[in-house]
Amino acid sequence: MHNIYLDYSNIMTDVIGDKHGITSKELESFKATYLKAHHKLVKQRDSDFMFFNLPTFKDDLDEIKKTAGFIRDKFENVVLLGIGGSALGPFSIFKALMHPYYNNLSAEKRRGPKFYVMDNVDPDYIEQLEDVIDFTKTAFLVITKSGSTAETISSFMYMLGIMKDKYDLNPGNHFFFITDPKKGKLRELAFEWQVKTLSIPPEVGGRFSVLTPVGLLPAAILGIDIEEMLDGAAKMDNASFKEDVLNSPAYMFAIIHWLLLKKGKPIHVLFPYANSLYSIADWFSQLWAESLGKKTDLDNNEVFAGPTPVKTLGATDQHSQVQLYVEGPFDKVFTFMEVEYFNKKAEITGKLPFEDFQYLENTNMETLLNTEKKATEIALTENNRPNLTIKIPKVTPYTVGQLFYLFELATAFAGSLMNINPYDQPGVEHGKIATYALMGRKGYEDKKEEILKNADKSNKYIVK
Ligand code: PA5
Repeated sequence: MHNIYLDYSNIMTDVIGDKHGITSKELESFKATYLKAHHKLVKQRDSDFMFFNLPTFKDDLDEIKKTAGFIRDKFENVVLLGIGGSALGPFSIFKALMHPYYNNLSAEKRRGPKFYVMDNVDPDYIEQLEDVIDFTKTAFLVITKSGSTAETISSFMYMLGIMKDKYDLNPGNHFFFITDPKKGKLRELAFEWQVKTLSIPPEVGGRFSVLTPVGLLPAAILGIDIEEMLDGAAKMDNASFKEDVLNSPAYMFAIIHWLLLKKGKPIHVLFPYANSLYSIADWFSQLWAESLGKKTDLDNNEVFAGPTPVKTLGATDQHSQVQLYVEGPFDKVFTFMEVEYFNKKAEITGKLPFEDFQYLENTNMETLLNTEKKATEIALTENNRPNLTIKIPKVTPYTVGQLFYLFELATAFAGSLMNINPYDQPGVEHGKIATYALMGRKGYEDKKEEILKNADKSNKYIVK
């Protein structure tokens, strides 16, 4: 089994200098704060069933596997309808662990249904899906914790309309729900229509739900070993959830970013050197932004806190962002994700009749990509830019489970250090309410009036 690890040498002052680095003394000096933050998480873990408990929670695994087996055998396509925490996790598992051209493979090579994630209500994107798949051979996974998010419910209603009106199919045979065990309209509908429904534990918020049926059912449908993924998460829990905070990969990730945030580095770049991990960077961006971006702290002071996560892909973005990263403002912290062994090496066997290109002969893309990572690391370090590396021996369900848990625990810990609530999202709710009001949802009439009253209807600031 492969274990990931965190190398933070390039954030220390002896490597990148006094101005932008951190000293060992500095790291040590906040120990009391770290311990307080850890004990807070211990309390949370003991009092509620939260994300901490998921790696070892196996009660629903049989049901997940059974449902997955049924869907896998019966359908040619699976379409996930969800948004935010209900879509980014499963999509990142799909991209990390499946063949990069999975949906283009023949059925024989694929050995499972094609998989699509519809996490936007872009009308072209939604309507044109039917041009590429046969809806009569499709299962729809409707994933929404609240059971009311406008984007997910409208996509569900859109698909429902087609399945009933155009194909005269019974929705109970094609739709599968993942939602709160008791609350919400989707749960009510599940009872009424007898739709197969799996539960998201009530105290596990959307962006922390990847290790619940939200991520596990799609993964199992795709044939991914979900127990291995949970074991990876449990391994990271053991390595990280401890009082010895300076030897905890998840806590150190949080501590480094928290200290550097205080030193004027609010932009946190996650920089995988592997296409397969790019969607994990997307998932992380939501987790970090939505959890840590808060107007008030826990004492009700206005703090307007929060780092800005940015995702960057190596080597692609070396030719897009890296100029800014190496020579621009000193406002960023970089975390590389480096994969030691890829599934393939892509040996370069061709030759060109130029001496200039001889250095590329008889090498492979794995070596080239990892050398480029090293080169970018050197460029950043030599320009005093703090950077760390998460080293991943191989991308497997086990290491992906470790990554999910590392980032989730780091986020909870960072929230504690920042004295904010990392589990709520009032800003997102604000937008959801405005959508309901503007779309004319019952009960939101006053809000609609208020919005329209405040809207500037003049054309004063429009340029044509
Ligand atoms: O993390 C969160 O809570 C949010 O990003 C939600 O996942 C997102 O808003 C979707 O909500 P729901 O699953 O209730 O449809």
